[in-house]
Amino acid sequence: MISSSTASSFILSTILLTLLLSQTKAQLNATFYDSTCPNASTIVRSVIQQALQSDIRIGASLIRLHFHDCFVNGCDASILLDNSANIQSEKDAGPNTNSTRGFDIVDNIKTALENSCPGIVSCADILALAAEASVSLQGGPSWSVLLGRRDSLTANQAGANSSIPSPFENLSNLTSKFSAVGLDTTDLVALSGAHTFGRAQCRLFVNRLYNFNGTGNPDPTLNSSYLTTLQQICPQSGSGFNVANLDLTTSDSFDNNYFSNLQNGQGLLQSDQELFSTSGAPTISLVNTFSGNQTAFFQSFAQSMIKMGNISPLTGSNGEIRSDCKKVNGS
Ligand code: HEM
Ligand SMILES: *[C@@H]1O[C@H](CO)[C@@H](O)[C@H](O)[C@H]1NC(C)=O
Ligand SMILES: *[C@@H]1O[C@H](CO)[C@@H](O)[C@H](O)[C@H]1NC(C)=O
Ligand SMILES: *[C@@H]1O[C@H](CO)[C@@H](O)[C@H](O)[C@H]1NC(C)=O
Ligand SMILES: *[C@@H]1O[C@H](CO)[C@@H](O)[C@H](O)[C@H]1NC(C)=O
Ligand SMILES: *[C@@H]1O[C@H](CO)[C@@H](O)[C@H](O)[C@H]1NC(C)=O
Ligand SMILES: *[C@@H]1O[C@H](CO)[C@@H](O)[C@H](O)[C@H]1NC(C)=O
Ligand SMILES: *[C@@H]1O[C@H](CO)[C@@H](O)[C@H](O)[C@H]1NC(C)=O
Ligand SMILES: *[C@@H]1O[C@H](CO)[C@@H](O)[C@H](O)[C@H]1NC(C)=O
Ligand SMILES: *[C@@H]1O[C@H](CO)[C@@H](O)[C@H](O)[C@H]1NC(C)=O
Repeated sequence: MISSSTASSFILSTILLTLLLSQTKAQLNATFYDSTCPNASTIVRSVIQQALQSDIRIGASLIRLHFHDCFVNGCDASILLDNSANIQSEKDAGPNTNSTRGFDIVDNIKTALENSCPGIVSCADILALAAEASVSLQGGPSWSVLLGRRDSLTANQAGANSSIPSPFENLSNLTSKFSAVGLDTTDLVALSGAHTFGRAQCRLFVNRLYNFNGTGNPDPTLNSSYLTTLQQICPQSGSGFNVANLDLTTSDSFDNNYFSNLQNGQGLLQSDQELFSTSGAPTISLVNTFSGNQTAFFQSFAQSMIKMGNISPLTGSNGEIRSDCKKVNGS
């Protein structure tokens, strides 16, 4: 027989444990700033709308920052920290250096938010809000952004080197990097659809144009007229910093043409084309679905963005709300 005092202390400790767990596993939600900064998303959107006037590429650059943030230690704005005595910046990691852009616009957004509601909106939430605003302003879907992330006190440059997918990787490697952060094959295909806007530098795909994988020939999956176009943008001995549109058909709008490009052998990066050209891959049917049905793509994309935005956020009293996205407070 269990005594009543044993039973009641069991119940009490169960309640305490449940409370503790519910605190440590605080969920993000869409209303987090409703009372403390009701205009947060409007402010983010208006700064981006302004920035797009002089740089049509900026929305693409901003959503990529959220992706590169979330894949390294979770969505905690670690990517925004500059080098300092204690910080080895993720900005200098291989996938980010001479590549990620938009940090100045993040700072403008932060300044605007600090003017309206000082000390309230995290830099990690700014990246999530900026991603949604960028997509919807360029013709893509809207979704309700989950909020309540806090900002990290550290960065992880080695993690950025090893966890962010590379355009030279094959589909098994890409799939395992997504899987490592809880994202599945549908997320991989849907989120790759972000390559419907923005640019990529020749150095990140020129290996496909002249001597692919040591064959002395171009990548056989490349459409031949597209190959000619790309060879003009990226001459064999030209600058690796020249850029091409990720989506040759509608370069600055967010739509599903990325997927019909893949069907035509017009994916820019090796990692793009592999989604359609890897024989027997489960990604092929998803490419076909998204190519034929923009609504299906938009729904999946929004769902996968929410999933990516939920990767290991800092919540509750973990981390901090940075007052300058580039620095840990007080440093
Ligand atoms: C599947 C794995 C992925 C790989 C291998 C990959 C790789 C790349 C590369 C190499 C570039 C060009 C960078 C440069 O030239 O500086 C790029 C650009 C871009 N990526 Fe990805 N990416 C992947 C997934 C994603 C995801 C999940 C998103 C967002 C949800 C995303 C959004 C973008 C955007 C919008 C650009 C253009 C950025 C700009 O114009 O500044 N990518 N990506
Ligand atoms: C949103 O999350 C915060 C922090 O966890 C919490 O205080 C708030 O009650 C939540 N709001 C809703 C509607 O769940
Ligand atoms: C929110 O934005 C609206 C329209 O831009 C403005 O009229 C209102 O004053 C703002 N509210 C706050 C609390 O900043
Ligand atoms: C970055 O770009 C600069 C000039 O464009 C170049 O000197 C430098 O070597 C590049 N760094 C890397 C790591 O590519
Ligand atoms: C990450 O990669 C960059 C460039 O490839 C390199 O300079 C840097 O030392 C690496 N950092 C770590 C911590 O491994
Ligand atoms: C793919 O992953 C394997 C195993 O982790 C690794 O050895 C290989 O270098 C990766 N390929 C590329 C192109 O990064
Ligand atoms: C991808 O590369 C890894 C190692 O680099 C290899 O083991 C694997 O078989 C390759 N997968 C495909 C689908 O080519
Ligand atoms: C590259 O070449 C190796 C060896 O010839 C081969 O096993 C591999 O499948 C090739 N990779 C691609 C993407 O064609
Ligand atoms: C090459 O692209 C064109 C569209 O620009 C398309 O009509 C053609 O079918 C493509 N060729 C192949 C082999 O996919
Ligand atoms: C397109 O996808 C949506 C969402 O999944 C679905 O409801 C709709 O039936 C699809 N349309 C067609 C024509 O298949």
